[in-house]
Amino acid sequence: MTNETIETCDRCDDTGWKPITDAQGVRRRRRCECWLEKRATVAEGTPIEFHASTLDNFDPRRGTQTALKVARMFATSGRDVFFHGPVGTGKTLLACALLNAHFTEHRSGLFVRTPLLMLELRQLEFVQHEFQERTVFDKCCTVGLLVLDDVGTEKGSDYARRTLYTIYEARGDRGLRTIWTSNLDLDALSGQDFWDDDRLTSRISGRSDVVALEGDDYRQRQRDRWSA
Ligand SMILES: Nc1ncnc2c1ncn2[C@@H]1O[C@H](COP(=O)(O)OP(=O)(O)OP(=O)(O)O)[C@@H](O)[C@H]1O
Ligand SMILES: [Mg+2]
Ligand SMILES: [Zn+2]
Repeated sequence: MTNETIETCDRCDDTGWKPITDAQGVRRRRRCECWLEKRATVAEGTPIEFHASTLDNFDPRRGTQTALKVARMFATSGRDVFFHGPVGTGKTLLACALLNAHFTEHRSGLFVRTPLLMLELRQLEFVQHEFQERTVFDKCCTVGLLVLDDVGTEKGSDYARRTLYTIYEARGDRGLRTIWTSNLDLDALSGQDFWDDDRLTSRISGRSDVVALEGDDYRQRQRDRWSA
């Protein structure tokens, strides 16, 4: 006899199929997330381009050394990370490298493009039904590691700020970690031209290593090399 506890999935009772009711009110069965997660090799939502990314793939260019150092400490720092900087400096690559490492070890992660998440959540508001599936919102609040990529491209929306605030608070309450990427720094995000509110950015700066990446656009540089 061991004291090991065996966790049962409360969505499917470990059958791998969970009951759902579709938009027409018809009851169906669908593959459960637990079944999909057990077989996944990368966290849900990870862009194909970054499926195999690790920190070893990161070329330590001038302007990115601090970011790489913070990324190397991520596994042990216990802090969140806010990567910001101009396009093509490697923010999403670093975030995905950390997500991949976390997923390999803990099997719980999610990558979202923040503007797409906002669109999806707004659509879900209009299709509430009785046995609603675990929504993407719940997942954002509870997944082991969440990457919120490209925050600040949804021009100053109050809806986005409030939704991200709620997700971030819920994650903080559970002790769950988040990685942000943005073209804007925290001052720009909280400023009058954007959210005009510092409640979320204050929490991000309190819980995160905030690190700037500088340099030219890596995509552009690769293109220039190929065409040379
Ligand atoms: N330091 C680096 N080493 C290796 N590849 C890099 C580096 N920086 C960027 N890249 C590559 O350049 C491309 C752009 O990087 P990435 O998508 O991470 O940029 P980003 O900072 O997130 O840009 P954006 O602000 O436009 O979202 C990717 O293909 C990425 O793999
Ligand atoms: Mg990016
Ligand atoms: Zn299940």
